[in-house]
Amino acid sequence: MTTVAFEVGEGTLVLQTGDITKVPSDAVANAANAQLAGGGGVDGAIHRAGGRAIMRELDKIRAKAGDCEPGDAVATSAGKLPAKWVLHAVGPIYAGGANGEAATLASCYRRCLDLAGELGARSLSLPAISTGAYGYPLDDAARIAVETVAAVMSDRSTPVRRVAFVLFGEETFEAFATAARRALPKTLS
Ligand code: APR
Repeated sequence: MTTVAFEVGEGTLVLQTGDITKVPSDAVANAANAQLAGGGGVDGAIHRAGGRAIMRELDKIRAKAGDCEPGDAVATSAGKLPAKWVLHAVGPIYAGGANGEAATLASCYRRCLDLAGELGARSLSLPAISTGAYGYPLDDAARIAVETVAAVMSDRSTPVRRVAFVLFGEETFEAFATAARRALPKTLS
């Protein structure tokens, strides 16, 4: 596993390669779709590893509140995952970049941090939302992800002390590491 950590505000921002379903964390974010219907990619991995309890909770949430808007997220338990909660965030489908995609992607990460804080989570794992099936250019998505999370952690507006981007492969890791080195002053390791 490749990993690098940065001191941000009162917390630590970690970048690491790996399978997010195997990383212990109070809260783990999913890259879901608006219908909360499950799918492939990290959504498929989370439902496979977490078990059917997660989808049963999503069915209730959808029945009550309808679809989840892009940029928003909803919380469920984590089933069999090494976590307490899954935060199902809906990223933007990339359509060229002139349709508010950057703001929607930033909103996903802010919303995950807000939800994690509200739930009392002290640690949060995040995937590279929208960079797979949703086609977001990796370098742009990495910059938005790192800058958004670092800004929330820097202004000390979150009780979440450890945030880890869990990145599925070296290419994604390198894009996030480049973005982090540009955005963050101190590297711990
Ligand atoms: N752990 C960590 N990251 C993963 C994992 C995993 N087990 N599996 C895939 N990824 C990575 C991908 O490599 C990519 O970098 O997650 C990132 C997001 O890719 P997707 O999962 O395709 O998510 P996204 O691009 O946001 O598209 C969401 O795809 O799976 C469907 O239901 C989902 O409709 C939704 C859409």
